[in-house]
Amino acid sequence: MHYIKFLHLSVLQQTDTMNYKLVWLLYLYGLTFENANAAINRTFPANFKFGVATASYQIEGAWNEDGKSENIWDHICHENPTFVVNQDNGDIACDSYHKYKEDVALLKDIGVDFYRFSISWSRVIPEGVAGSPVNQLGIDYYKNLVQELIDNGIEPMVTMYHWDLPEALQDLGGWLNPEIIDHYAYYAKTLYEELGDSVKHWMTFNEPKQTCMGGYGDGNMAPGYNFTGLEDYQCTHILLKAHAKAYHTYDEEFRAEQQGSIGIVMDTAWFEPASDSDQDKEAAERGLQFMYGWFANPIVNGNYPQVMIDRIDERSAAQGYAVSRLPKFTDEEIEYIKGTHDFVAVNYYSGTYAQWIEEADINDVSYNSDLNILVFPDDDWEDTEPPWFKIVPWGLGKTVNWIRKTYNNPEIFITENGYPDVGGLQDDKRIYFYKEHMSSLLEAILDDGVNVTRYTAWSLMDNFEWGLGYSKKYGMYSVDFEDPDRPRTPKASAAYYNQVITTRCLVDVCE
Ligand code: BGC
Repeated sequence: MHYIKFLHLSVLQQTDTMNYKLVWLLYLYGLTFENANAAINRTFPANFKFGVATASYQIEGAWNEDGKSENIWDHICHENPTFVVNQDNGDIACDSYHKYKEDVALLKDIGVDFYRFSISWSRVIPEGVAGSPVNQLGIDYYKNLVQELIDNGIEPMVTMYHWDLPEALQDLGGWLNPEIIDHYAYYAKTLYEELGDSVKHWMTFNEPKQTCMGGYGDGNMAPGYNFTGLEDYQCTHILLKAHAKAYHTYDEEFRAEQQGSIGIVMDTAWFEPASDSDQDKEAAERGLQFMYGWFANPIVNGNYPQVMIDRIDERSAAQGYAVSRLPKFTDEEIEYIKGTHDFVAVNYYSGTYAQWIEEADINDVSYNSDLNILVFPDDDWEDTEPPWFKIVPWGLGKTVNWIRKTYNNPEIFITENGYPDVGGLQDDKRIYFYKEHMSSLLEAILDDGVNVTRYTAWSLMDNFEWGLGYSKKYGMYSVDFEDPDRPRTPKASAAYYNQVITTRCLVDVCE
């Protein structure tokens, strides 16, 4: 479809009538009217939606108010303060629990179509377990937030789990205890019952890879366990079943009446082959399958990617394990998990080169040696403030093209994309980051026909950046964390994003 770009260039200076004819031509070629129009003008299609995202623990504060119980991030920050840079914690964070109306006003100023936020499980069901009491004050907070959004013409898009497990469930084994599947289903059902009349887009989990690998594999996230190559796989196995159960619960009991849609948010980097060799191409594909396919393949096709099954089975056997470290789904489970998505969501931040390497030492039990590729950046790629985070905008276009090809052209939501710095209101580099990423996305939509319908910027405002505390800032609004009132101030990127949303355009040609 690159010819469309060519046509675009050649007709840019022509008359409206000519454009009109071209729209027809492209329409006849098979594009929708909207996309044909957009292809000519290089604008986002009329039905494309823009939003911003946040997460409960990162912004809400009020960690022990109105009946909320402790969650695993409260716990680790309180019990092991050095887990986080500067011993920061989310006790108050942006204080959004008390300032949600102000936050909705900020969203309105930016002009977003939707707001992706997450619900704190321990605020809604403090004891965590199935059948335990629902905390009405916690539910009311989210009902009020949802109503405020709707009153302001902003669609609520809800993540049910963004890493803040009730500590009571962690005490029972967290994501390693299969009983959590029923606890999670009870929580999900409670949310559909209480909020499903107004919420039409649900996401069961945010970045399950971080829950399982960060929480149980490399230990960078709460609860901070390091059993890589074992517990990260066990956690995933249980979490995927919890996802599927929440999906089926919606399907069977709520969808007909509530008419919403439901999916899961998975993150990936783009893996670019380090050379044209078949081996490096294989390494890059393996990187994508281990990172994104680990979750996406079960959800779309019912089981882990074949390359994961083969490699982990083989290495486990050579290591003397009686069974593979990668647990097996039964045929029934495969059927149950398969197809549990109404859209495919992706969080994209950066990319890397991938190179084939000799097989790792067989005694090394880890996710990394199961994956066994070398990843490294190009010296020419630009840095963000943390130097390990390279700006690789074209990787976003390649990622969505890969998703289209690998998972049979699904509807795709970009559910996060954002840039960290250390502060400042004139955040030109964030503007550059957004512009380049949205531009890569626009090309994928217009030139390659990838079905991406939403873009979500991370984040509305600076917030608690997990292990990095408040030291790294992703917001379009700055928050003064020294001031008890947590005042918010717009950065230049807020006005820029508003301009993109208003014009649906990234470049000067359609301004
Ligand atoms: C997470 C966010 C986080 C962001 C920036 C994403 O992986 O979903 O919670 O703040 O990355 O690190």
